[in-house]
Amino acid sequence: ARRDRGRLLDLHREVSRFFHSLLLKSPDAAHAREYLKSRGFGKEMAERWEIGWAPESARTFLDWAREKGVRGRDLVNSGLAIQRDSGGLYIRFRDRLMFPIRNDHGDVIAFSGRQLREDPRSGKYINSPETTLFKKSNVLFALDRSRKGIMNEKAVLLCEGQIDAIACHEQGIENAIAPLGTAFTPQHAKILKRYTKQALLCFDADSAGYTAAERAFRELAGEDFSVRVVRMPPGEDPDSFMQKNGTDAFRALLGEALNFFDFKIEHAKSNGGLSGPQERAAFTRDCAELLSVVSDAVSRDAMINHVATRLRTGVPELRSAVADVARKGA
Ligand code: CTP
Ligand code: MN
Ligand code: MN
Ligand code: MN
Ligand code: MN
Repeated sequence: ARRDRGRLLDLHREVSRFFHSLLLKSPDAAHAREYLKSRGFGKEMAERWEIGWAPESARTFLDWAREKGVRGRDLVNSGLAIQRDSGGLYIRFRDRLMFPIRNDHGDVIAFSGRQLREDPRSGKYINSPETTLFKKSNVLFALDRSRKGIMNEKAVLLCEGQIDAIACHEQGIENAIAPLGTAFTPQHAKILKRYTKQALLCFDADSAGYTAAERAFRELAGEDFSVRVVRMPPGEDPDSFMQKNGTDAFRALLGEALNFFDFKIEHAKSNGGLSGPQERAAFTRDCAELLSVVSDAVSRDAMINHVATRLRTGVPELRSAVADVARKGA
């Protein structure tokens, strides 16, 4: 099993180099280089992250694999290829911009591939499947190069996409990471806890990002994190925001991040969630439910006080609502 693991790591390292050199040099990858440029990625940036291009032609990939002496079984085990019923191999990543995903030691263990032209027949992003190397719920993109930044900043900056994390690092914001095509998991919180107890959430300013922020709050607050949320203009993500407004403006947003419940209240206000007595009651229950996940009793109490004051409801009432939720295990 250890031998298999070593072979799969070797394969990922080699494939990542192959994709990277195709991106920089292949005549067939001109459109990929063009796309990269359009996203504000220079050559050095592509080199620092070993960004690559998966060839459009399965032949190109399979010829390379044969030349390298890679076994078909390893291509399947790595998720780079899928076994067809007919016996042949189907290549998973074709004509995509490839982002290597690394473990804590910096070894490539998976890939995320982005479409170069919009094609609704498949996803904008495709990731490697779960393999012996890659357990999605345990991996955070860029964590291998963010640990120092997280310690220095005494906080982690959690983004939604790997391009956001990359854009942050390239601008010197070196505590930025992203989960990979999954929601933030309990394991993610446990991993981060080794480095910090402060999280700054910077998910996309859209409804999916809002949902992701609540989900991340649950996991993080359950592990004693203090959680703040960065507010961006509607529709933006860290990458698009910095492209339009620059790094200084983004840093200013980071500085103005709100405590999670202030963010939630602000969000509710601007969405009519506090307009009438029924809405307010529902919102208060919603807050009680989220407060009940806060593991640290002292912070939970402080948050209950704060939220009750802001909602102009009684502290004892909110406290007992929180206790009710906790008791019912909702
Ligand atoms: N993602 C995914 N599969 C998809 C869409 C997204 O795995 N079909 C993951 C990717 O890791 C992606 C992240 O979710 O980086 C954020 O998705 P999204 O916000 O939709 O990405 P965009 O910002 O729209 O991507 P881009 O900036 O590349 O256009
Ligand atoms: Mn860095
Ligand atoms: Mn999005
Ligand atoms: Mn986005
Ligand atoms: Mn984006």
